Amino acid sequence: MLRLQNISISKHLPSKTTTLISTCFLLISSLLILINYPSTTNTLLSTLSFQFFSPFSNTTNSFANNSSSNVDYTPSNKKIHTTNCDIFDGRWVYDESYPVYGPSSCPYVDHQFSCFNNGRHDLGYLKYRWQPYGCDIPRFDAKKMMEMLRGKRLVFVGDSLSRNMCQSLICHLMEFEGQSYRDGSFYNYYFKDYNCSISLIIAPFLVQEHRLPNKKGTLRLDTMEATISKYRDADFLIFNTGHWWNPNKSENGKNFYQEGDVVHSNMTVGVAYTKALKTWAKWVDTNVNTTKTQVFYRGYANTHFRGGDWDTKGTCNNEITPITDEKLLKPYSWLMQTLETVISEMKTPVIYLNITKSTAYRKDGHPSWYRGGKLRRGGIQDCSHWCLPGIPDSWNQFLYASLLFSSKGANMTS
Ligand SMILES: *[C@@H]1O[C@H](CO)[C@@H](O)[C@H](O)[C@H]1NC(C)=O
Ligand SMILES: *[C@@H]1O[C@H](CO)[C@@H](O)[C@H](O)[C@H]1NC(C)=O
Ligand SMILES: *[C@@H]1O[C@H](CO)[C@@H](O)[C@H](O)[C@H]1NC(C)=O
Ligand SMILES: *[C@@H]1O[C@H](CO)[C@@H](O)[C@H](O)[C@H]1NC(C)=O
Ligand SMILES: *[C@@H]1O[C@H](CO)[C@@H](O)[C@H](O)[C@H]1NC(C)=O
Ligand SMILES: *[C@@H]1O[C@H](CO)[C@@H](O)[C@H](O)[C@H]1NC(C)=O
Ligand SMILES: *[C@@H]1O[C@H](CO)[C@@H](O)[C@H](O)[C@H]1NC(C)=O
Ligand SMILES: *[C@@H]1O[C@H](CO)[C@@H](O)[C@H](O)[C@H]1NC(C)=O
Repeated sequence: MLRLQNISISKHLPSKTTTLISTCFLLISSLLILINYPSTTNTLLSTLSFQFFSPFSNTTNSFANNSSSNVDYTPSNKKIHTTNCDIFDGRWVYDESYPVYGPSSCPYVDHQFSCFNNGRHDLGYLKYRWQPYGCDIPRFDAKKMMEMLRGKRLVFVGDSLSRNMCQSLICHLMEFEGQSYRDGSFYNYYFKDYNCSISLIIAPFLVQEHRLPNKKGTLRLDTMEATISKYRDADFLIFNTGHWWNPNKSENGKNFYQEGDVVHSNMTVGVAYTKALKTWAKWVDTNVNTTKTQVFYRGYANTHFRGGDWDTKGTCNNEITPITDEKLLKPYSWLMQTLETVISEMKTPVIYLNITKSTAYRKDGHPSWYRGGKLRRGGIQDCSHWCLPGIPDSWNQFLYASLLFSSKGANMTS
């Protein structure tokens, strides 16, 4: 099981040569409705032991040595004491003090996720806090997070669920007043006082989509999305892929998957996905300097379509409370089981934000028909993305906890 143990010091020097990001990214348009991936198999569950050792254990802790930051970091080279807490295994508890930011207070939430502004006025779904079974995780502290990101570049790479998470992080950080904030070009965000930049690269498959004029597109299973190479020396890289590995989003595998010059006439999505993940893993292992960069992988977020699928009029409206009975949760996605196997074979230490279970409970967290545009009752619903504020806030809480624990030594109480 993945546990927050053996995390040691996460720190590094900001590169002197890093230039600010100014690239515009290709926006894969209209990811309005993502795909409900049928989680079928749940058998491969292997006992994995992810290594959470720090790639930064012998460098100067550039962000940690500042008494005014109030963050208690341990010195370098210290192996972190273990804890038996899996912070991703737990339940949601009602907490009046949530959400962290107001339902219409953050201007950087895409229309598509702005459920409150789009007319969703039941607010109970905002009042839950993730409670691991074995320990507590700290509430997101924007000031501490900013300190940890001082002089750093953090880059999200993935599908529109990454956009969900990225915007949630920006909204969290904006709660910390006293910083200048600038919206750079496209999905680039820059916090001037902290010289911190956060970017989002839209790469729904992680590997390269290949479109020739007047030709049907293919997906290059053997090539990483090209934009990513510009960001390989970021301090934090947070990857994900998942919802697009669906027969319908990939031409049912017919003449869609390509390796080298070969376009496979009929490849199953499972085979293609595994190949793509291996391409990603290899890219990370050969391109990421682990002294500088900490790699994260954010897991699969469950969808909650009722009475149909994403493309067959499935719905999730009128869901105003989470699932409470764990037995009713969807089984752990095979996509993530494959991912766990791939990560276990990598030489780069990857922190896996295993959010799948926490999302499985939250049938109440999707935009459903409050997904922007004209409110069309009876129209197509979004039961894949999440309202903001909302569930992706907890992913940033996991990110925050991981950074904090990896910096200060997994000081969790059981
Ligand atoms: C991730 O969470 C799932 C479901 O809660 C669990 O089955 C799986 O073992 C976890 N993976 C790791 C690596 O801990
Ligand atoms: C800002 O941070 C970058 C690294 O992300 C660094 O290269 C640059 O020198 C920093 N600029 C200032 C003004 O501190
Ligand atoms: C850590 O730093 C010390 C001196 O600061 C050096 O002697 C040692 O070789 C370094 N270890 C690694 C693994 O870089
Ligand atoms: C951290 O700060 C302390 C006290 O201000 C100082 O003695 C120490 O050298 C600093 N360490 C680093 C790595 O900058
Ligand atoms: C410590 O943080 C404060 C603000 O929180 C900042 O003004 C100061 O420059 C920082 N010092 C160092 C050495 O980073
Ligand atoms: C999705 O795929 C299934 C089977 O692969 C097919 O029956 C269905 O018609 C597809 N839906 C769309 C919108 O293409
Ligand atoms: C494509 O592969 C699927 C599953 O492997 C198989 O059921 C189907 O018959 C194949 N179709 C063609 C045209 O080869
Ligand atoms: C890796 O990053 C560290 C810290 O930024 C740097 O000192 C080192 O030269 C880098 N190694 C390579 C091979 O680029």
